[in-house]
Amino acid sequence: MAEVIIVPTSDEAGALVADEIVRLIAARPDAVLGLATGSTPLPVYQALRSRVGGVDVSRVRGFALDEYVGIDPAHPQSYRSVITREVVEPLGLDPALIRTPNGALETIEHAGDDYEHAIAAAGGVDLQILGIGTSGHIGFNEPGSSFASRTRVKTLIEQTRQDNARFFDSIDDVPLHCITQGLGTILDARHLFLLAFGENKAAAIAGAVEGPVTASLPGSAIQLHPHVTVVVDEAAASQLQHADYYRYVLAHKPAWQGL
Ligand code: PGA
Repeated sequence: MAEVIIVPTSDEAGALVADEIVRLIAARPDAVLGLATGSTPLPVYQALRSRVGGVDVSRVRGFALDEYVGIDPAHPQSYRSVITREVVEPLGLDPALIRTPNGALETIEHAGDDYEHAIAAAGGVDLQILGIGTSGHIGFNEPGSSFASRTRVKTLIEQTRQDNARFFDSIDDVPLHCITQGLGTILDARHLFLLAFGENKAAAIAGAVEGPVTASLPGSAIQLHPHVTVVVDEAAASQLQHADYYRYVLAHKPAWQGL
């Protein structure tokens, strides 16, 4: 079962995950981070800013979950730009060690395989940060995505394009296609952190955590993973059937256990 931690605010969630990332980097200076984009991971990146001062991050490696297909990498909403702006620059990471899937049309046919090879060559992802879409997607694995899927091109559903339209001038500017790590790729990461905040994520979180396990709600794939930490605020936790049990587990968590 995933460990579910219900926190009062997204800032506390960010601090909790950031502390774990700092512990990881201290133990393994060339740790491989799985980086998410969107609004959800921002409190983590914000909290990391004040924590990386005393830590050598020069060898930290990272892989983003996804990228839009056909977007200019220099576009402010390309995930390459977002990761550079929100993660690489403020934390002082080496940009050469941080990868995003290549959404360029010229090489798109083999971009998924290239990305899989790069992740494998890095030894896999140590800690993967995940948000969840209102559709239940993780990465850009929309409903119906195979649990065995690897990095590949997907077509975004209309709901996701509407959700992401806030980052663009209009919904017409949101790309139709993306290249995303597959659910199989994500499940290979050694520790998953799934974060969600707000009422509009409550149904997706309840489905992901409490099932059923179904490709119709891709986030439910986390139930197949042996090491998952779900960090949510009260609103995102509001449809969980067993929220009291998760609180009870946390209140009685053995001190030696860690996350
Ligand atoms: P959000 O997106 O963090 O911007 O809500 C999450 C997602 O679509 O995976």
